[in-house]
Amino acid sequence: MANQFDVVIIGAGPGGYTCAIRCAQLGLKTAIVEKDSTLGGTCLNVGCIPSKALLDSSEHFSFFKHDAEKHGIEAKEVSLNLSGMLKRKEQIVKELTGGVAFLMKKNKVTHFEGIGKITAPNTVEVTQSGKKDILETKNIVIATGSDAIELPHLKFDGEKMISSTEALSLQKVPKHLLVIGAGAIGLEMGSVWLRLGAKVTVIEAANKICGPMDAQTSKELLKVLKKQGMEFLIGAKVVGSKVGKNDVTLTLEGSDTSTIKGDVCLVAVGRRPYTDGLGLEDIGVDLTDRRRVKINKKFETNVNGVYAIGDVVDGPMLAHKAEEEGVAVAEVIAGHSAFVNYHTVPSVIYTWPEVASVGYTEEQLKEKGIAYKKGQFPFSANARAKAIGETSGFVKFLADQKTDKILGCHIVGPRASDVLAEAVIAMEFSASSEDVGKSFHGHPTLSEVMREAALAVDNLARQM
Ligand code: NAI
Repeated sequence: MANQFDVVIIGAGPGGYTCAIRCAQLGLKTAIVEKDSTLGGTCLNVGCIPSKALLDSSEHFSFFKHDAEKHGIEAKEVSLNLSGMLKRKEQIVKELTGGVAFLMKKNKVTHFEGIGKITAPNTVEVTQSGKKDILETKNIVIATGSDAIELPHLKFDGEKMISSTEALSLQKVPKHLLVIGAGAIGLEMGSVWLRLGAKVTVIEAANKICGPMDAQTSKELLKVLKKQGMEFLIGAKVVGSKVGKNDVTLTLEGSDTSTIKGDVCLVAVGRRPYTDGLGLEDIGVDLTDRRRVKINKKFETNVNGVYAIGDVVDGPMLAHKAEEEGVAVAEVIAGHSAFVNYHTVPSVIYTWPEVASVGYTEEQLKEKGIAYKKGQFPFSANARAKAIGETSGFVKFLADQKTDKILGCHIVGPRASDVLAEAVIAMEFSASSEDVGKSFHGHPTLSEVMREAALAVDNLARQM
C-alpha cells in the first residue's frame, strides 16, 4: 500500500525544511523528499553556510596579515593551512545538515531520500538506486530550488571552468582567478580567494557591480574592493572562452581588454530554477516565461493541491525569502491566512565590509516618482567602528517626504548584515525615521550609525 500523507514537500533546502517543520507543528502528516544524501539544500551544503565559513576564516587570515599590527599584535609568520580551513568549513556543514535531519525526526517528518517526481496531483514517486516509493498526498509543495547557470560558451569542467560549488573547495589558491559576474557569488567567492593570496579579476557585463543594488552603495563597495586589490573590468561581456592545459582565456566585448588569461575561472552569472525530472509538464503545471513555477498569492500553481515556494518561483533567490514562503504555504495548507511582505526582504552581500539593504533604492523611488528625504551617516564617525578599526562605509535611510515612513535602508559597513535587522523590523511596523532616531541604541555600538542616519533624514544627526 502506498504511503499516505497530508503534505509531501519536494526539496529539503531552507524553504522545504522550514515548511516541513511548520506543517508538522500544525498537525499535518508530512513527508520531505530530497535527492541529495544530506538535508539543507544549496544553502547549507554548497551555498550560504560554507561560503560564510570561508569568508570568516579568510577574514581572520587577512586580519593577521594586514591589520593585526595596527592593534599592536605582531603576527609576521602567518601562513595558510588551506586543507585545515576547508576541513573546518566541512565540519560546520556536517553539523548543520545533521541538525536539519534531527529537526525532521524531532518533528516526526518522514524523510525519503531519492528523486521526487510528481506523477499525478496527489502522487509523488521517489526513486533511489532503482528502488521506488509511492507517496499519496493531499498536497504537494515544490521547493526544489535553483542551480548555477551554465552558458553554452562557458561550459563547467569542475577544474578550470567552475561554478560556486567548486569555488568552495579549491585545493590550492589560484594564481589568477577570473570571476565572471559581479553579483553576490562572484564578489563573495572572489573576496575569499583574494584574501588567501590569489590575483582576482572580476568581469561584469553591466555598467555597475551588483546590478539591482542602490547605485551609491554599489559605488562605495566597488571603491573598497578595489582598495583591497580586487581588479574589475566593468561593462565587459564575456563572449567566448578557451580552456588550455594550465589556463583559461576569455574573450571580452565592450572593454579595451579583448582577452584575459587566468588559471581558474569562476562563472557566477546567476542561477536558474531547478525543475529537472519533476514531471511538471506531464501534470500541466504552468511556468513563467523565465521558466519559474507560476503561483498565485497563496503559493498555488494552476494544478489543484500543488504549491511552490523559494528559488523555483519568482522573487529574489534568497534562503530567508524561501523560509518565509515555507511557513506561509504551510499556514495556507492548514486553512489559515498567510502573507509574505516582499517589500521587507533584506539583501546582504558578505564581502568585507558587508553590504545590506532593504526596501526601495533611490533609483527605484525616482522611477516611481515617490518624493523622499535622505539621511546618511558614516561609520568613520562612530566610536565602536573606530575601536574595531573598521570605519569604511555608511548607513543611508530613505523616508517618505511627507509622512517620514521609512522606504529603504542601505548599508555598507562592518557587520552590515546584523546592523540592518533594525531597519527590517522598523519597516515591518511602518516606522518613521523619527521612530528609529528617537529609540535607544546602546553606546558604543555600530547600531548608533543607524540612529544617526535616521536623525540625519531631518538634519538632526548629533555625533558628527
Ligand atoms: P547575479 O544574478 O546576482 O549576478 C550575475 C552577474 O553576472 C550580473 O551582474 C550579470 O550582469 C553578470 N553577467 C551575466 N552574463 C555575463 C557575461 N557573459 N559576462 C560578464 N558578466 C555577465 O548572480 P550570482 O552572483 O550568480 O547569484 C545567483 C543568485 O544567488 C542571486 O539571486 C543571488 O542573490 C543569490 N545569492 C545570494 C547570496 C547572498 O544573499 N549573500 C550569496 C550567493 C548567492
